[in-house]
Amino acid sequence: MQIDIITLFPKMFDGPMNQSILWRAQDKKFIDLNIVDLRHFGEGVRKNVDDRPYGGGAGMILRVDIIDACLKSIKAKPGTKGQKIILTSAGGAKFTQDKANEYSKLKRMIILCGHYEGIDNRVAENLVDDVVSIGDYVLTGGEIPAMVIADTVTRLIPNVIKPKSLTEESFSGMESEYPQYTRPEVYRGWKVPKVLLSGNHKKISEWRNDKPNSDIP
Ligand SMILES: C[S@@+](CC[C@H](N)C(=O)[O-])C[C@H]1O[C@@H](n2cnc3c(N)ncnc32)[C@H](O)[C@@H]1O
Repeated sequence: MQIDIITLFPKMFDGPMNQSILWRAQDKKFIDLNIVDLRHFGEGVRKNVDDRPYGGGAGMILRVDIIDACLKSIKAKPGTKGQKIILTSAGGAKFTQDKANEYSKLKRMIILCGHYEGIDNRVAENLVDDVVSIGDYVLTGGEIPAMVIADTVTRLIPNVIKPKSLTEESFSGMESEYPQYTRPEVYRGWKVPKVLLSGNHKKISEWRNDKPNSDIP
């Protein structure tokens, strides 16, 4: 899958997107990550990308014409089969595991990061396929939401991680995964549940089915 992320802060992606499974997914060509610097499409010597809101109000709004120029330059058009242009917004539709599954089947995902006060609403109205929120809170920019979306989707692409790891985890047929333990068997008097040491797979499986992690206070 090709993942394009449009941002005013490309350096934010340097570390987080180049570690662990995300790095391996790129190395093995499961994803091709393209970080696009929106500033390159800015106007004038100062490369302006934003302006004050019509009607007054606080902060600066990213301009629709600048974003349109950027999307055109990377040949991203809403409604294209196998692609989605996704706008990050606190007021968008909630990003869920189901949505991540749907996105993992795409050939290309283009994520647009807002910043400052937000983005001219004509972008949401005309230039994107989906408007997505990662939760009911406001972040300074869409960069962390873009990483959340890219990470969640990448691990669902076939063979990025072992299929068994995906079937036995939270939100995949179970609300939350069962509790997991490893060595040492006893630590500071805290014991691993006996059934997990029994070798009885039927009992282990029953225990796991009865014991969602949400039991933990
Ligand atoms: C400071 S926020 C703008 C908040 C906006 N004025 C509002 O009240 O919803 C700047 C950018 O961060 C991103 N953002 C903030 N919170 C988000 C969330 N919960 N989910 C997705 N994107 C978010 C969006 O791209 C947004 O345009």
